[in-house]
Amino acid sequence: MMEATLYDPVGYSGARVLITGGLGFIGSNLARRLVDLGAEVVLIDSLHPEYGGNLVNVAGIEDRVTINISDVRDEQSMLYLIRGHDYLFNLAGQTSHMDSMQDPYTDLEINARAQLSILESCRKCNPGVKIVFASTRQIYGKPEYVPVDEKHILRPTDVNGINKMAGEWYHILYNNVYGIRACALRLTNTYGPRMRVKDARQTFLGIWVRSVLEGKPFEVWDGGQLRDFTYVDDCVEALLAAAAGNAIDGQALNLGGADKPLGLKDVADVLVAANGGVGSYAVKPFPADRKRIDIGDYYADDGAIRAALGWEPRVTLAAGLRRTVDFYREHLAEYL
Ligand SMILES: NC(=O)c1ccc[n+]([C@@H]2O[C@H](COP(=O)([O-])OP(=O)(O)OC[C@H]3O[C@@H](n4cnc5c(N)ncnc54)[C@H](O)[C@@H]3O)[C@@H](O)[C@H]2O)c1
Repeated sequence: MMEATLYDPVGYSGARVLITGGLGFIGSNLARRLVDLGAEVVLIDSLHPEYGGNLVNVAGIEDRVTINISDVRDEQSMLYLIRGHDYLFNLAGQTSHMDSMQDPYTDLEINARAQLSILESCRKCNPGVKIVFASTRQIYGKPEYVPVDEKHILRPTDVNGINKMAGEWYHILYNNVYGIRACALRLTNTYGPRMRVKDARQTFLGIWVRSVLEGKPFEVWDGGQLRDFTYVDDCVEALLAAAAGNAIDGQALNLGGADKPLGLKDVADVLVAANGGVGSYAVKPFPADRKRIDIGDYYADDGAIRAALGWEPRVTLAAGLRRTVDFYREHLAEYL
């Protein structure tokens, strides 16, 4: 079994786990896995309508998790909520790059300031907690070389990248200075069931999946750009492996995908195939406002986390998109 080599699943049985952003895409998939492992799971989420949080994401496990609708910007709440947990998966975030340009202060408040106050809450009320922070490949900016390893310069192209970078480094700092065990995973495009498909705020794959299921053409911008993709179950296993031991404390490591990097037009073809060959798209130039913050080709060198934790992504894009399309064929209406 994959998990037996990565972490001892028994270690999570009875563990007290807090997930910020727990009603969102990755957080809810993580919650489902933790509930199966026997953990006591508390989810914090603001359910802001423009983010990926959705109560339907915990359908079927709602009686096995504790849900706290609150905002990580609320320092008093966090001081209280952080207590008594063994693990903190810190996933709450504003994820839209365009929104971060149009409303930079909200992005700053959530992705940087609130991260600092979460860490201050840990320092004051729960210094023994183990934290895994969801960082992003966006902090590298436009790659100078690919695959991008962790030595690559950090030079974000948008406000979101700068604030996520600060959020990540606060975690590393609190690990190094205060001994609050923390690490960060720099996620690449992560996709799968329970991602936001209403629009492209979270990932362009969301609106693509919605479009093929609604029988509408979708737009592929540029088409040649190379990207890598992590299926959400692989991401969840990496989060759990990172939290279970102390091998990567104080580090921020890349996650990549199971396939070779693909051009976006090829990704579109894989998606249409995943929908039984039904679907169409048009290749268009990048809209000017997006082009200004675009990062060009990106794919990760994730050798460091593979070596440290034995993690590797298992689910190919073809298999992952099939599972994703199958999920939304059944549940699309709940996500619109
Ligand atoms: N999905 C990806 O491809 C990807 C890539 C890189 C990094 N990440 C990071 O992973 C994390 C999870 O992302 P996701 O894809 O699951 O997105 P998501 O939007 O589904 O999840 C984020 C959750 O955080 C919640 N949230 C936002 N602001 C909050 C606040 N102030 N207080 C409480 N809750 C708040 C949202 O309601 C949402 O449920 C984010 O931090 C994101 O930056 C995701």
